[in-house]
Amino acid sequence: MGRFASTVEYYVRYREPYPREFFAVAAMRLGLAGRERLLDIGCGPAPLAIGFAHYVESCVGVDPEPAMLAAARTQAAAVGVALDLLEIRVEELPLSIGVFELVTIGRALHWLELEATRAVLERIVAPEGAILLCGAAPIRDDANPWAAPYEAVRRAWTSADDAARYRLELDAWLVPTRFRIADTFETVATHRVTVDELIGRALSKSSTSPDKLGPRQREFEREIAAALMPFVRDGAVEERFRAVARIVRRAT
Ligand SMILES: C[S@@+](CC[C@H](N)C(=O)[O-])C[C@H]1O[C@@H](n2cnc3c(N)ncnc32)[C@H](O)[C@@H]1O
Repeated sequence: MGRFASTVEYYVRYREPYPREFFAVAAMRLGLAGRERLLDIGCGPAPLAIGFAHYVESCVGVDPEPAMLAAARTQAAAVGVALDLLEIRVEELPLSIGVFELVTIGRALHWLELEATRAVLERIVAPEGAILLCGAAPIRDDANPWAAPYEAVRRAWTSADDAARYRLELDAWLVPTRFRIADTFETVATHRVTVDELIGRALSKSSTSPDKLGPRQREFEREIAAALMPFVRDGAVEERFRAVARIVRRAT
């Protein structure tokens, strides 16, 4: 079983969404004309490929986790979007895949073999094309007073190896290539989220997945619920979250 297999059902339902506005802003910043080929690397349930589908000509999603691809298929069918989905690691993409005007990587870069992925990107990003690195997470300030205690519990249950993955320096990783960060933008949204949903979100992360937690899952869930309790009103907390993107292009 892959490290994401036990997260899938939680991922689809409970991960922070990329708001609709995020795709509109991205399409404008990228100057999408509707003729682009898009490749979504580490697509998971394909929130990015699905969100961009109306702004480009075609979308291919790649992911080595069959359960994630099954979720992507279901999600795409539910909204009538056509996706080409490949069960493969990005490092192994064949030459026949061709080139793409837009490559998206959402919450996945830290899982990839960085050197091999750089080489693949040099090959598959069209000369004037762009890479869009995306993420969505709660804002860590007074707007979400529950977020720090919640993350503290997650951190306490996360192994040092998993924690180290998230310290990737994008600029340093790009240095050996001609790719540079050309633009950064974010959209902010607010919604209410229940304790159960935040427990589900924690289980959607591979570092605190049901597979990792094993027989201690209930104990973990109780700790998360206890950390959130002081902030809960009418069964939920308010969450202000941002979807962030960096546009990477070849320097001229
Ligand atoms: C956290 S999910 C991100 C899903 C989605 N892109 C998003 O923005 O929500 C990370 C995904 O990367 C995939 N992944 C891990 N290693 C990979 C690799 N070498 N090549 C392609 N995808 C990979 C995992 O299977 C998982 O579905």
